[in-house]
Amino acid sequence: MFDERPPAATETLLEVNNIEVIYNHVILVLKGVSLHVPKGGITALLGGNGAGKTTTLKAISNLLQSERGEVTKGSILYRGERVQDLDPATLVRRGVIQVMEGRHCFEHLTVEENLLTGAYTRTDGRAAIMDDLEMVYTYFPRLRERRKSQAGYTSGGEQQMVAMGRALMSRPEMILLDEPSMGLAPQLVEQIFEIVRAVNEGEGVTFLLAEQNTNVALRYAHTGYILESGRVVMEGSAQELRENPDVKEFYLGMSDKGRKSFRDVRSYRRRKRWLA
Ligand SMILES: Nc1ncnc2c1ncn2[C@@H]1O[C@H](COP(=O)(O)OP(=O)(O)O)[C@@H](O)[C@H]1O
Ligand SMILES: [Mg+2]
Repeated sequence: MFDERPPAATETLLEVNNIEVIYNHVILVLKGVSLHVPKGGITALLGGNGAGKTTTLKAISNLLQSERGEVTKGSILYRGERVQDLDPATLVRRGVIQVMEGRHCFEHLTVEENLLTGAYTRTDGRAAIMDDLEMVYTYFPRLRERRKSQAGYTSGGEQQMVAMGRALMSRPEMILLDEPSMGLAPQLVEQIFEIVRAVNEGEGVTFLLAEQNTNVALRYAHTGYILESGRVVMEGSAQELRENPDVKEFYLGMSDKGRKSFRDVRSYRRRKRWLA
């Protein structure tokens, strides 16, 4: 008669269940990765170089084939449906698009032409596409200024914006963003993440973003996962991760000796406990 159940927990948009990825039939890179990406949130996939972040994103967007990689175990569900046998273009039509690491632009096209290529899967007509071009320019005023410039002659930050803007032109529900901060000056990194937040809040786009820059990612994300050698070693809300002593020590305050393995710390603590 009277429904007193608490409001439903946030809907999971993407679910990765215990996937294994093998390259060239022999190199095992992901050793059982599971993720839950809530609808409407920003989820960070963290970890050092070679941890398996890009491989995870490519497994989701079905871009592994061209790399001779294969999901050999586990499942990937988008809105509850299995998507791992779809081709990338079908997935784009379903609302999932990846912005690749290294922001690949069409160098000989102008900024605006690059953005328009992002609308290639759409069938809703020119007027709607032009409206969205306006929408992209509101989030990226810099791109409006540079609209007639050849993409190859724009800066790294501008190219990252072009790559993100082009993804937005497909009207995605979810963007897989790979290392947006790579090679950019700190101030620009901040700008890019501000735009991610604005698009997330303004358009309701869900983000799964891979980052080595733990510090900045955890300031903008809502939840996060830390990958090491193809395994999730930690997960939680961004706040929990920011406050976790091991994350602080090994991912937020990097020592000059470089980054130690998170798993090393844990086994070290375990030994210490036994000795005590
Ligand atoms: N095409 C490939 N063939 C073989 N091994 C690969 C390939 N791509 C990546 N790897 C290996 O997989 C591991 C994870 O790489 P990657 O997913 O790119 O990590 P991250 O994005 O976290 O830096 C690394 O050891 C890398 O050398
Ligand atoms: Mg990578």
